[in-house]
Amino acid sequence: MPCFSSGREAALELRPDSPVYCFRPQVLAADAAAFLSAFPGKTAYAVKTNGEPMVLDVLARAGIGAFDVASPAEFAAARAAAPGAELLYMHPVKAQSDIRLALERYAIRTTVLDHEDEVAKILRIVRALDLDPQDLTLFVRIASRGEAAYELSKKFGAAPGHAAELLQRIDALGIRCGIAFHVGSQVEDADTYSRAVAVAAEVRDAAGVPVVALDVGGGFPATYARDPRRPAPLMPPLADIIAGLMAAVEARGFGATPLVAEPGRVIVARAFSVIVRVLLKKGQRLYINDGVWSSLSDSWTGKILLPVRHIPDPARRRRPGRAGRMEPFRIYGATCDSVDVLSRPFYLPESVDTGDWIEIGHIGAYSLALRTRFNGFYPDTFVEVATPFEAGDAPEGFAEPERRGVVEA
Ligand SMILES: Cc1ncc(COP(=O)(O)O)c(C=O)c1O
Repeated sequence: MPCFSSGREAALELRPDSPVYCFRPQVLAADAAAFLSAFPGKTAYAVKTNGEPMVLDVLARAGIGAFDVASPAEFAAARAAAPGAELLYMHPVKAQSDIRLALERYAIRTTVLDHEDEVAKILRIVRALDLDPQDLTLFVRIASRGEAAYELSKKFGAAPGHAAELLQRIDALGIRCGIAFHVGSQVEDADTYSRAVAVAAEVRDAAGVPVVALDVGGGFPATYARDPRRPAPLMPPLADIIAGLMAAVEARGFGATPLVAEPGRVIVARAFSVIVRVLLKKGQRLYINDGVWSSLSDSWTGKILLPVRHIPDPARRRRPGRAGRMEPFRIYGATCDSVDVLSRPFYLPESVDTGDWIEIGHIGAYSLALRTRFNGFYPDTFVEVATPFEAGDAPEGFAEPERRGVVEA
């Protein structure tokens, strides 16, 4: 992979007409190390967030020893990158054939559910393979409520009374019980974790069976950009969020229970940026060569404001507008689809024009994983970049990334 010191250097040297991903392995290793040192339990990276082999390799070398996997393709990717790592199959609703593959071929012994029919599916395979139920840990996923860019409890999670019954059923089968929650992705209220721990304690007490682990899921927020027109309270740094979570763990009687976390976004978001080109400027609209159906759907559905950097084409001598004046531009994607418009603007100098590049930062989470081939576009060019996105040039007005205890690589 070609290496550059910054995204700007890559853009000016390559003059790319299609999107180029800038991978920052040092940033990825630093953010993984920051999570590992902040969280006092088992860290299982959520492979769905970004399962590129280059990412999994760096994480394995950075000391991530467990992976949260959701499908056969993820079992294979995680095993290939980290043959000795533990795989946790944390998808609550699974195909029978995938459960068999997980237990038989991949020797996975930890999974999750939120319904009794899923217990029956797992039990069928355990019996067919003649496994000892005691070797298995089944987490019951509980529903939790919270403020997050993505709220997931409408789709998964058992209500407290139902969850307690499931734990009793699992315990009666001789299988070890865990309790899991996932408060949603990009949590926007730090107390969400404490509330979920309180529900977990209620479920544990109602079930009255031994609980061997508490899985606090993912959701830990990554840093993005701040919109000056919508002042929102800043989330505290990761260490403070985890301190609040740990205080709840102690207060609710889980102090001696082993913990698991399934972070994705907070570990991988800063590890990638994408260099895109402005195909056309129409007043306050910019048409770019990426979009909702390629790298930017997470920003669209999660209404996330991404930090951006303008890289003017030096070949263009005359340009309209003032370079120092920042303006919000509506961003239109590469496809012919009318929904291919970002839900948040990019703040860029008024002088941005057709042919310029924009480096969009912090797109490592749910970007590469969600690319489609719609309209025949599929960005797939990678370079390595040595410095973090936020290093280098002076801050660019409102497009500056939030600063809340960001670890510099
Ligand atoms: C079960 C589960 N675990 C972990 C994650 C990772 O969440 P995040 O990227 O917000 O940390 C997800 C993503 O939604 C998930 O569904």
